Amino acid sequence: MSVLLSVSFLGLLLLPVNSLSDDNMTKTCAKCDCNQIVINCANHGLNRYPNFSLYETVRTINFSHNNLEYIPDAYLLPDQLLILDLAFNKINRSENHSLSELKSLQQLNLSNNNFHTVLDGRKLPESVIHFDLSWNKINSFGRYPFVNSRRLQVLDLHQNLLSYNKTVFQQNVFNNLQNLTDLNIGQNGYHTTEPVYPDEVFKHLKSLRTLVIDGFLTTTFGKVFSEMKNLQALSINNLMVGNLGIETITENYFENLSQITSLDISLTGYRQINTSGSEVYLKSIESGAIAKLTKLRSLDISFNSLLGFCGLRNITQDLPNTDIKVLKANQIHCPYGFSTILFVDDIKPLKDTNLTELYLDGNRLEMTEDLAPTYLPKTLRILSLMGNRLRLDKYKTDGIWTLTGINSLYLSSQDQTQSHRVHSGWFVCNDFTDTIQCLSDRKSNKHSCKFQKGNVGRSAQELQEPYQSDEFGLIADTYPFDYVNFVDYVKPPRTGDIQSHSHLTAVDIHPYPPLNCAYFDHLISFVNTIPPNTKRIFYESSNLGDQIIPYWMSNDTLEYISLRGNNFQYFLGPVCNVTKVKRLDLSENMCLNIYAHFFIGFINLEDLFIQGNLLGDAMKTFENGELFEKQLQLKNLNISSNRITTLPNNFFAHVLNIKTLDISHNLLTDWNVTISHLWQLNVLDLSYNQITFLSDKAMKKLDKITSQNIKINMMHNPFECSCDSLSFLLWYKKNRKRMGSYSNVTCKNSKRELIYVNDVLLSLQKKCSSKVGLMIGAGLFLFVVLGMIFGAIVYRYRIRLKYSFHMFKRQYFGGYEPLHAIQNYEFDAFISYADQDRQFVINRLIELENKKGKRLCIHHRDFIPGNEIAENIINGIHHSRMTICVITREFLKSTRCNYEFNIARTEGICSRERENIIIVILMEDIPFKELPIRIMEVIGQETYLSFAEYLNDDDTFLDLLATAIEN
Ligand SMILES: *[C@@H]1O[C@H](CO)[C@@H](O)[C@H](O)[C@H]1NC(C)=O
Ligand SMILES: *[C@@H]1O[C@H](CO)[C@@H](O)[C@H](O)[C@H]1NC(C)=O
Ligand SMILES: *[C@@H]1O[C@H](CO)[C@@H](O)[C@H](O)[C@H]1NC(C)=O
Ligand SMILES: *[C@@H]1O[C@H](CO)[C@@H](O)[C@H](O)[C@H]1NC(C)=O
Repeated sequence: MSVLLSVSFLGLLLLPVNSLSDDNMTKTCAKCDCNQIVINCANHGLNRYPNFSLYETVRTINFSHNNLEYIPDAYLLPDQLLILDLAFNKINRSENHSLSELKSLQQLNLSNNNFHTVLDGRKLPESVIHFDLSWNKINSFGRYPFVNSRRLQVLDLHQNLLSYNKTVFQQNVFNNLQNLTDLNIGQNGYHTTEPVYPDEVFKHLKSLRTLVIDGFLTTTFGKVFSEMKNLQALSINNLMVGNLGIETITENYFENLSQITSLDISLTGYRQINTSGSEVYLKSIESGAIAKLTKLRSLDISFNSLLGFCGLRNITQDLPNTDIKVLKANQIHCPYGFSTILFVDDIKPLKDTNLTELYLDGNRLEMTEDLAPTYLPKTLRILSLMGNRLRLDKYKTDGIWTLTGINSLYLSSQDQTQSHRVHSGWFVCNDFTDTIQCLSDRKSNKHSCKFQKGNVGRSAQELQEPYQSDEFGLIADTYPFDYVNFVDYVKPPRTGDIQSHSHLTAVDIHPYPPLNCAYFDHLISFVNTIPPNTKRIFYESSNLGDQIIPYWMSNDTLEYISLRGNNFQYFLGPVCNVTKVKRLDLSENMCLNIYAHFFIGFINLEDLFIQGNLLGDAMKTFENGELFEKQLQLKNLNISSNRITTLPNNFFAHVLNIKTLDISHNLLTDWNVTISHLWQLNVLDLSYNQITFLSDKAMKKLDKITSQNIKINMMHNPFECSCDSLSFLLWYKKNRKRMGSYSNVTCKNSKRELIYVNDVLLSLQKKCSSKVGLMIGAGLFLFVVLGMIFGAIVYRYRIRLKYSFHMFKRQYFGGYEPLHAIQNYEFDAFISYADQDRQFVINRLIELENKKGKRLCIHHRDFIPGNEIAENIINGIHHSRMTICVITREFLKSTRCNYEFNIARTEGICSRERENIIIVILMEDIPFKELPIRIMEVIGQETYLSFAEYLNDDDTFLDLLATAIEN
């Protein structure tokens, strides 16, 4: 007992202490973003470190973007910390502080601080693998750099002030970094006076795989680099500073680097061209330089804007000696000069490589020499010619179909120069002379190339034939010897191409519109030749236009097509032989019209982007969802920014598998589209429309959504806060889980002030309740009155309604032919009679069949057993030319007869354009005033016979009746 007591007493004592420390923890964290594993204190204006030592489970702490001036002490941090981010502070000292006790720390980021020397290695734990000191002001390694860093794998020192000389890089600085794999010491040497690569220093970096280093005019990679067997990737930064920057890469520059597989000598990103001319650009790469890199797989020479295609040619000639797979030569021309031409000789050597990716973006390229693409290797998978000046027709005629390996074609942004990036529209690169020089060099060089190539078994005489100019007067003719072989070998498909059919329109296709792509005669024209294995084509922002005419793609291999940002004004279509396309982007075209059959070929489309067009009006016309009729696989559809004011009810009837629907940035004011069948729909984006509130119908429609996880986004609509919108706002609140971000939803009151819905809802409810009561009363009254009127109408027209219902049923479910199509009736007359008068029918009227050859429909004989009576009647009357009513007192009493009479009347009025189809036989001498008005009406206008008159003159009676039927 006492033990129990003391235990509980102890517990009582312990409890508050526990909760107190918990409390402290939440306090320190209140400012930051804390969870079990990560604490994020970025951008909190901190100038001292909170104590996080109790957050034992936390592995990552982010202190970046604060005002901290020293590194923290280990005791303030959880023991098991793995990642510590101190970037973007003002840290420059560590005198009294040390992280060395954080035995688990693996990553330390001190970039963008104020260090002048490398952090004292003794203050770092041994465990650190990844150490970032980039973007400081470090100009010396200090006294004990990296003494504890045997495990360090990644060291980033770029953008500091380390000079490349032996005073700064003392012999032993990297002694301990035997496990270092990645070293970045680029962008450091701006103030170096006599740069050298301190070979002895690199000797220790046995594991180094990736090196980023500054390149200088005078430095060379010494013998020690050939001993770094693991080195694979080398990036050389050209600092472009006068006296230091590299202008030429000499033939022997890479002599000691034959082990590397990846070389990057690009300028990092684009730089604004400095018109003062003090910057030093790489201008040439001597022939033979790249050939030394026999293991090279990836080469990037981009943004060296003075290298030009002359530099490229020196490189491509060397590449057959390497193992090249990826070549990037983007923007090796200054972007704003006159157009350039790619000669066959510039790329011809690539044929002897296994290149898989070639990038020649932003080179002012306007033409390629005829058949130039045929010299690209078969292994090529990706070809990127973005940001040039190619036109579709030119590109097509140049043997592009021979690129049998091509998987992706990037052709976007043609003709977009002089746009962004340059502030002055007048700025043009001053490289006219260079370009001309390079042009003529390459032109004459052709000969020597040919000479080299053709050396085997041909006389020099043959080889030195003079050039023949072609139509441009500029480009020499292609190889006369090889050409014949080429023509055989290339064998372009015998089809037309876009260029020759630009005048064609939809009207030229028969039948038009084609019902499906099977009708499409792909032998005649419109065939769009693409290389045989192309999966992805990007032709964005290139002023293409102005119609997408009907096309038959030469190969059904495409999976992703993007024509975003062009000027197509009409999507006529259809585009056929595109059954594999999963993603289609036609957005931002300002397109005005789209035809219903445009997408019929895209039967496996999953993502469709047509936002940023003007298709709102066109979409109104697709009342049965014709536009997406074949898109059963569609998952994501973006039709935002299309000036859509309303969509037809069944617009999405066919896209059964849709998941995301983006209709934002349109002009919708309400929602009347059925989406309840879209059971996979996750996102319906209606934001940025013109919805002030949804109608009850709309809310009901949205309530019917079957998809469980749907999120409906209606933010940024001009919601109204008024009694009109109250039920909508309440509905919104009720559905806030679906709608998301309810607390941020605003509405405008009568004074057009923006208020939060949550704040205004209660008062609005109160204000409107009196009105609502009144309205409910009035509404009820109205409802009752309307109900009564409706009831009366229904009663009055019950027969016609029933008839219409049956006709409807027959038309849509019974498989009957449409009403007006019936010309030949199955029967000449439908006989309507009371059961009591059956004998008269069997004995007398039957003579019409026997003697006059008329076919009669007699219900006890001709009705189809099992069918509903009413249906039999309607069918009978409908399939009979006339209806004969045998009027007796029994007839007048019989409900069925009355029904038949009324149906016959309705049939005459509704289906036969007010024809007379009723023949009345008055059997008994019933005074007219005893006959109901509707029968009197018929007697008044239509044929009637009084049987009493012909009681004994059967033949006349039959004659009269037969003629009545015939008329
Ligand atoms: C919690 O805060 C109180 C007062 O603020 C302090 O006395 C106590 O030492 C703190 N406890 C811990 C575990 O930091
Ligand atoms: C260096 O790396 C190797 C292999 O990854 C490893 O076995 C060795 O323990 C590492 N050396 C140190 C000091 O961590
Ligand atoms: C190395 O560079 C530093 C800093 O620029 C300079 O102070 C030092 O004199 C240089 N040493 C040599 C040997 O050039
Ligand atoms: C191409 O190589 C030749 C021979 O090494 C050299 O003279 C020329 O400057 C190089 N041209 C370019 C643009 O790199």
